[in-house]
Amino acid sequence: MNVLNVSSHIRNLVPYSPGKPISETKRELGLETVVKLASNENPLGPSPKALKAIQAALQEIHLYPDAAAYELGQAFAERYGVPRECLVFGNGSNELIDLLVRVFCEPNKEAILTSDAAFVAYPICAQAARVEVKTTPLTQDLKFDLQAMAAQLRQPELAQRVRLVFIANPNNPTGTYVNQGELEAFLAEFGNREDLLVVLDEAYVEFVRALDYPSGLELMKQYPGLVLLRTLSKVYGLAGLRVGALVARPELADLLHRVRNPFNVNSLAQAAAAAALSDQDYLKRVQELTWSGLDYFYKELEALGLKYWPSQGNFVLFDSFRDSSALFQSWLKRGVISRPVKNYGLATHIRLSVGLREENELAMSTLAEVLKEVPPSTQSAGDDK
Ligand SMILES: Cc1ncc(COP(=O)(O)O)c(C=O)c1O
Repeated sequence: MNVLNVSSHIRNLVPYSPGKPISETKRELGLETVVKLASNENPLGPSPKALKAIQAALQEIHLYPDAAAYELGQAFAERYGVPRECLVFGNGSNELIDLLVRVFCEPNKEAILTSDAAFVAYPICAQAARVEVKTTPLTQDLKFDLQAMAAQLRQPELAQRVRLVFIANPNNPTGTYVNQGELEAFLAEFGNREDLLVVLDEAYVEFVRALDYPSGLELMKQYPGLVLLRTLSKVYGLAGLRVGALVARPELADLLHRVRNPFNVNSLAQAAAAAALSDQDYLKRVQELTWSGLDYFYKELEALGLKYWPSQGNFVLFDSFRDSSALFQSWLKRGVISRPVKNYGLATHIRLSVGLREENELAMSTLAEVLKEVPPSTQSAGDDK
């Protein structure tokens, strides 16, 4: 027996690849100005109220955090009108995805179901827990295909083994969403089952502008098998502190609490998150900045002749019709860190987060030069899945 000879689930795991840091790019390329539009972060920085709360909480960092996250729970419950006993907080929602898989899926036996090109944490967390990952292809317009997912779940062999269905709404990296009718049809069949949970990941919910976007919080009242994920990393600007929230019926929340580490959300993060949740002015500023940035991107991408997918997140996915690694490198030399999404099976596509106005402008003006430098790929956009 060799300790390195671990299960194939672990050996074949492709680790999460984060966006390239600004400091590293400056150092490597000797650049003074670098903008990072690669990780769907909040360009406005944290809310002033969150910063003030951290200052106050600093006095107590010699103490363990509140394991029950009482103040944060109160703030979240008030903000979103959910009972406290339905809440579980995590070290980012990433930790909650991990926890869901560990609690509800039996290793080497059960499975999760999601879509191709779904947020990459779902397959990574499942694989790390030795849980099989089943996926369905995206639709032509890069949406989750809930009908195809339903068809999979009707197959007796899979129906017996799939315990969690992950739906990112909107999805990262595509920015696409499933609408009210599509989600309700799916939940009417699978939202009430005893052997299955439908996890609706609403990490970008506050950026949504689509009028037919379904409210997970409303649907939860009707479907006990629905679990919601939220994060403080996006519109609330606290990605570095790592706070995510899960909303589920109390019996489910109770099981998750048994397994999570008692102090998984540190005290500074709890204080900042509680304060950020109450800062509505900040939230509005972030939304306005994001929406005007997205509209600007759409206009510029269209003028450059590139295909993009209207996004309900704080980022846009576009097809560069070029090898995305070459495009990434050429853009990087001009001080723009973007995110190629080959790891999602989209070989010529790039995801670009909305930044400050001047950052967006730098990105779009340099993109025109980059497109001239990198030759179009012979591979057609349809070949890359
Ligand atoms: C769809 C989706 N869900 C969850 C997350 C994880 O967020 P965090 O772990 O920072 O809460 C992300 C991060 O990019 C995401 O895009």
